[in-house]
Amino acid sequence: MLEVHNLVTGYGKAVIVQGVSLEVKPGELVTIIGPNGAGKSTLIKAIARLIPTFSGEVRYNGVNITNLPPDKLIEIGINYVPQLENVFPNMTVMENLEMGALKNENAFERNLARVFEIFPILEERQEQKAKKLSGGERQMLALARALMSDPQLLLLDEPTAALAPNLVTEILKIIKTLKEKEQLSILLVEQNARKSLEICDRAYILVMGKVARTGTGKELLSDPELGKAFLGA
Ligand SMILES: Nc1ncnc2c1ncn2[C@@H]1O[C@H](COP(=O)(O)OP(=O)(O)OP(=O)(O)O)[C@@H](O)[C@H]1O
Ligand SMILES: [Mg+2]
Repeated sequence: MLEVHNLVTGYGKAVIVQGVSLEVKPGELVTIIGPNGAGKSTLIKAIARLIPTFSGEVRYNGVNITNLPPDKLIEIGINYVPQLENVFPNMTVMENLEMGALKNENAFERNLARVFEIFPILEERQEQKAKKLSGGERQMLALARALMSDPQLLLLDEPTAALAPNLVTEILKIIKTLKEKEQLSILLVEQNARKSLEICDRAYILVMGKVARTGTGKELLSDPELGKAFLGA
């Protein structure tokens, strides 16, 4: 579904991501973990077309999307949720959801019902300004807003950043549900290495802009070397 071949990207003249290849198959939940500054956000931003690709290729359903304008991604079924500033703080929950549905107004009612089923708290808070939500609720709104565009592939950058451990678990559980119940394909960047390996199908470990290891979540979780380096074991 998503294929990244030898992607090189960065900022200005600074090369941050140094030739990364990865793949997300239909219905897969794939996670990218790695230390701070490894280039995880940079990589996912390049896939989401927000920063230029220096070299390499991104393909989606067999089509080369390496140079597609970012606003076209939603039309082809890809939705990116950034690490920061992923909701409109001065708009209400409902207005945020409406914004998410702009490219897909026909399915508004159906998507809204689905989103409220997954996130009942958002239905209760629909008239509240997004800035009044708790951190966890705000992340739920960011995910919900993405779902309003009826995506096939979600690109999520640290949806659990700065959340308390119980909320991290809850959000990751919801993300797994999106894969299982909604058949979404998901590329998930995560700081919580162990928890994300537990829910993912496969993972890539990014270190200094390169893929250091890849494997199934299970394989990586049971790797003693990795335990020491990344999982705090
Ligand atoms: N807008 C920018 N301009 C220049 N350099 C940047 C920019 N954003 C990030 N960088 C640099 O790129 C490198 C990788 O940053 P990136 O945000 O991709 O890391 P990350 O793996 O997402 O880290 P974290 O886990 O902290 O989110 C860092 O050295 C960072 O300083
Ligand atoms: Mg990041």
